[in-house]
Amino acid sequence: MAYADLYARWKADPEAFWLEAAGAIDWTVPPVRALDDSRAPFYEWFTDAMGNTCWNAVDRHVQAGRGDQAAIIHDSPVTHSKRVITYAELQTRVASLAGALRARGVEQGDRVVIYMPMVPEALEAMLACARLGAIHSVVFGGFAAAELAVRIDDCTPRAIIAASCGVEPNRVVHYKPLLDGAIEMAAHKPEFCVIFQREQEVAKLVEGRDFDWHAFQYGVEPADCVPVRGDHPAYILYTSGTTGQPKGVVRPTAGHMVALAWSMRAIYDVGVGDVFWAASDVGWVVGHSYICYGPLIAGCTTVVFEGKPVGTPDAGTFWRVCAEHRVRSFFTAPTAIRAVKRDDPEGRLIGGHDLSNLQALFLAGERADPDTIEWAQRHLGVPVIDHWWQTETGWAIAANPLGIEPLPVKIGSPSVAMPGYDVQVLDEGGHPVPAGNLGAIAVKLPLPPGTLPTLWNAEDRFRKSYLSHFPGYYETGDAGYVDADGYLYIMARTDDVINVAGHRLSTGAMEEVLASHRDVAECAVIGVADPLKGQSPVGLLCLNKDANRPHDEVVRECVALVRDRIGPVADFKKAVVVDRLPKTRSGKILRGTMVKIADGQPFKAPATIDDPAILDEIRAALATLGLPAAG
Ligand code: COA
Ligand code: AMP
Repeated sequence: MAYADLYARWKADPEAFWLEAAGAIDWTVPPVRALDDSRAPFYEWFTDAMGNTCWNAVDRHVQAGRGDQAAIIHDSPVTHSKRVITYAELQTRVASLAGALRARGVEQGDRVVIYMPMVPEALEAMLACARLGAIHSVVFGGFAAAELAVRIDDCTPRAIIAASCGVEPNRVVHYKPLLDGAIEMAAHKPEFCVIFQREQEVAKLVEGRDFDWHAFQYGVEPADCVPVRGDHPAYILYTSGTTGQPKGVVRPTAGHMVALAWSMRAIYDVGVGDVFWAASDVGWVVGHSYICYGPLIAGCTTVVFEGKPVGTPDAGTFWRVCAEHRVRSFFTAPTAIRAVKRDDPEGRLIGGHDLSNLQALFLAGERADPDTIEWAQRHLGVPVIDHWWQTETGWAIAANPLGIEPLPVKIGSPSVAMPGYDVQVLDEGGHPVPAGNLGAIAVKLPLPPGTLPTLWNAEDRFRKSYLSHFPGYYETGDAGYVDADGYLYIMARTDDVINVAGHRLSTGAMEEVLASHRDVAECAVIGVADPLKGQSPVGLLCLNKDANRPHDEVVRECVALVRDRIGPVADFKKAVVVDRLPKTRSGKILRGTMVKIADGQPFKAPATIDDPAILDEIRAALATLGLPAAG
């Protein structure tokens, strides 16, 4: 039982476990201590170490003689292009970009916002920041200008690096006007912007503020790696919380490197020279950990894929990419496999491809339903590994550690806790519940290296959101149970976060936008079950007494408003007007009950409900949206 032994070894001596794991990293000053608990319950790791992430992800591989190995393969069916960048080329390109940023004053600790699609230059921008010790904050391209503005104001970047456009299958996404709009809206103004012009759309630059990516680097001196302290933030990544104000998850340098290096071998079972592909986006945590940093730190070749699981050009794209680039480990969201399965239920498009290099398919980001796992197992003939984690943790809390010991797969479970995580299921009073009983999933403090020590500029919010409900624990926001063998089952969120196509969204944020519509008096957004996307947001709107316009007009405006303020990624397309919302006598909106009605699940009206008759009205309103969906 290699896994059980390893987990027990970690538990017996976490300090020794993580110091040994730190041996996989090049340090300018190696850590003497692992955990720094001097500010408990705020923990840091490897604070006494000095090192540089870019060195570990790029330069050291060149120094070790692997400069000719492919570092990045860009495969872009949406632009019909493919490109390979070797480690030596990556080093030159990143050192040059970092040199240009430095020449314009970017230094260690400065923030740099990155707003780019799935192009290698996005990774280069991240690595160039890491090279200087600048703190990047990547913003997903599917967010609207207002969301970008909120992030600009929160992390106050010295510079913004963006692309002129992104390419979605049905349209070109005009990044530059979105960026201009965001800067206009934000109170904080960056000193300058660097724009990577793509041939699909060349953007107009603002004289004196915007620089062209290439011209900007012309004639500059390349920058060397700047060693930083172990607890220096490598990046800030915003994620959805309960309100419209996103949470800025902070990722410290040393723990990030150590945990990712450990996970590449132990969980994904890849190492130097292997091809690793995470079909996600650099704007999400999966993209940070497993498109950019993890595979590069491990000396793998990473695939940067600019396309969709279906329609670019068909449901065989994933298998074509796996075969053509000899992918060993492939990671994507269950939604993506559901989309493939829907278009190619018999798996016919898999047949023509040589998948002999593929060792495993990893799924995360949302609950993996048994049908999807079984379909993938049957058609790919490799282990399909569900694993569970969050933006906050940066790497898997629970997984099946293929590189240590492949454990029996239990479909419906992301398997077992990884070393570093003492996972407990708690009742409302914070007491562990017996195996098989549902409860809130929490992790005993301290969290392991690579996880968040705090939220950017919001220590109080960090404490309130994660630490105060269950003292001594980190509250994950997920509910579920552990079985008698220690396998975890993740059943639901305990907060207002929903998961749409593997994208984490806040219903609270959508409600804030809807409430700002002049005709909306009150509203609720719920996540209803969706066969493709897992969940889908639905709005219920109560209008002001004097709103005498046609309801469908108001609904259309509300849908447009969410798209405009939050972005297309919110996927908010369904809303209905109701006279009133079901509430408890104390005024709490019964969202959970409405979800059950929308999903056609049995439910009991809570004893505290103000007026049970409202539930029939809600049922009738949801029926006009085709809910509950047949089947
Ligand atoms: N930039 C701009 N817009 C984007 C975008 C981006 N990077 N990514 C998505 N969008 C837009 C889409 O174009 C779509 O816009 P539309 O309403 O005009 O059609 C909207 O956001 C919703 O996108 P999505 O939820 O992705 O739905 P879809 O119907 O376009 O595609 C899937 C469905 C299943 C193919 C797609 O959701 C998918 O690939 N999911 C996997 C998600 C994933 O990898 N998540 C990462 C977490 S690990
Ligand atoms: P994100 O921060 O975007 O990665 O979203 C994290 C959330 O997605 C988790 O808190 C869970 O609610 C959900 N999630 C991620 N992975 C899984 C999984 N394997 N099974 C069930 N839910 C998951």
